[in-house]
Amino acid sequence: MPHRPYIVGNWKMNGTRAMLAEARAIDRAAGRYPDVQVAIAPPFTLIGALREAVSAMGVGGQDCHVNAKGAHTGDVSAQMLVDTGADFVIVGHSERRKDHGEGDDLIKAKAEAALAAGLGIIVCVGETLEERDGGKAEAVVSAQVTASMPDADAAADAVASGKVAVAYEPVWAIGTGRVAEVADVVAMHAQIRQQLLALYGEIGAKVRILYGGSVNAGNARDLLAAEGVGGALVGGASLTAEAFLPIVAAAD
Ligand code: G3P
Repeated sequence: MPHRPYIVGNWKMNGTRAMLAEARAIDRAAGRYPDVQVAIAPPFTLIGALREAVSAMGVGGQDCHVNAKGAHTGDVSAQMLVDTGADFVIVGHSERRKDHGEGDDLIKAKAEAALAAGLGIIVCVGETLEERDGGKAEAVVSAQVTASMPDADAAADAVASGKVAVAYEPVWAIGTGRVAEVADVVAMHAQIRQQLLALYGEIGAKVRILYGGSVNAGNARDLLAAEGVGGALVGGASLTAEAFLPIVAAAD
């Protein structure tokens, strides 16, 4: 892997203060793998507490609003994430695209707002099963990358400093236990890399492309060793230190 691998836990809508003990255990172990960048994106409610509980790993949000503040009940801005101790934010997760009707334009605006606030970003893309079965996976992901990645003017500094990542998460592999074939992951990552180079020029090589979708201790080593895979975005297997740490170890 050309980059320092990036292993990110997305806790989704899971976690109360009782889970801080898991985060501390993950953090202690993360300190033993300095060659791996480890982070967790807990629910908004735990970001501040997690930030105080850990030292070796990054802490991020799972979404942000495009505006800095205002009358947007229930939303949280990128500036608020920074204020509470987040280093990065995930945008465009398929669960946001589906459950909240988020489209590429909005996701791009969120990504640019996050970068302007100083956060790193992980922009998620990925096709549904119907799209893959219909032979449209490449076209769907290509269109998502084109339309949801931040513009070069907004992103150049962050791209150059390694603060921009893309997560390829086939929707059908999320939470299903059905992981994508390594060859398909390699092919999709290569396609995304070409697009990033076209969009950002040679610094596009610095964007890490993560795979997400049923990553676990059993499949992490093969996936992380695959050409062009710069890390993993992990859901279910990031909720306990016992499940997550073997994935971190596999990236080392
Ligand atoms: O963002 C991570 C994710 O969607 C994958 O979830 O549970 O399949 O690892 P999971």
